[in-house]
Amino acid sequence: MDFKVGVFDSGIGGLSVVREIKRLMPGQPLIYFGDTARTPYGPKSLEILRRYALQDAKFLIQQGASLVVIACHSAASAATGLLESELAVPVFEVVTPSVAQAITLTRNFRIGVIGTRATISSRIYDRLIPERLKNVRVFGRACPLLVPLVEEGWINNRETRMIVKRYLRPLREKQIDTLVLGCTHYPLLKRVIMEKAGKRVKIVDPSEEVARAVHGFLKGKGLLAEGSGDNDRFFVSDLTSNTQTIVERFMGKGIKLEKAVFS
Ligand code: DGL
Repeated sequence: MDFKVGVFDSGIGGLSVVREIKRLMPGQPLIYFGDTARTPYGPKSLEILRRYALQDAKFLIQQGASLVVIACHSAASAATGLLESELAVPVFEVVTPSVAQAITLTRNFRIGVIGTRATISSRIYDRLIPERLKNVRVFGRACPLLVPLVEEGWINNRETRMIVKRYLRPLREKQIDTLVLGCTHYPLLKRVIMEKAGKRVKIVDPSEEVARAVHGFLKGKGLLAEGSGDNDRFFVSDLTSNTQTIVERFMGKGIKLEKAVFS
């Protein structure tokens, strides 16, 4: 039987990770869970994030996932250790491979991280990057307005460009040379972010990094599947017509959402 990859997120943004996984491993069976009933996770407390993340991962395992990917940065920064200790399947998440890529890319040892309030206040990057690279400075910036802008489809408007510029200004002033897009939604704003961060700044896209990590793991274990990838399932905890609209912003047409039923 093929090895099923489970991916969860606070909502729809985790489809940025699915997109990268499917690009690298089109035939790998995949199950997605987006917790649209309880989204957003970005403003939530550590305690709630840990509880939700465990429930989300267990749902994927009940549906047959043999590996869990935490696509949500807010959940990953709060609950990776908990999931690793509670679950009997391998756990991948967006932070660790992004840390590795950021320290590979930086030349001046000044790294910026943008994300939700939960991710930035967890200080996960401030902790993990200096563990692996001496004399590095990490500058975090919470950008809470960016998630709703992406969900509204305001990807390249004047207002979005102004807000991105304003959020990035303090990081530019710190002369970062590397910037981690620490939130599921930010890859959709990559062009604007690159422009406003400045030409010298290298961008770390965690959706690409985690997909590469999962690919390396499956390949190493001989578990890469060659199926059609047609049986992927996409569950959400609440389904509205707007959910479908947002899904199309991330993945285009062709994704059929199912309402998750919890046992
Ligand atoms: N998925 C969340 C993250 O990556 C962003 C959306 C939310 O706040 O729930 O942090």
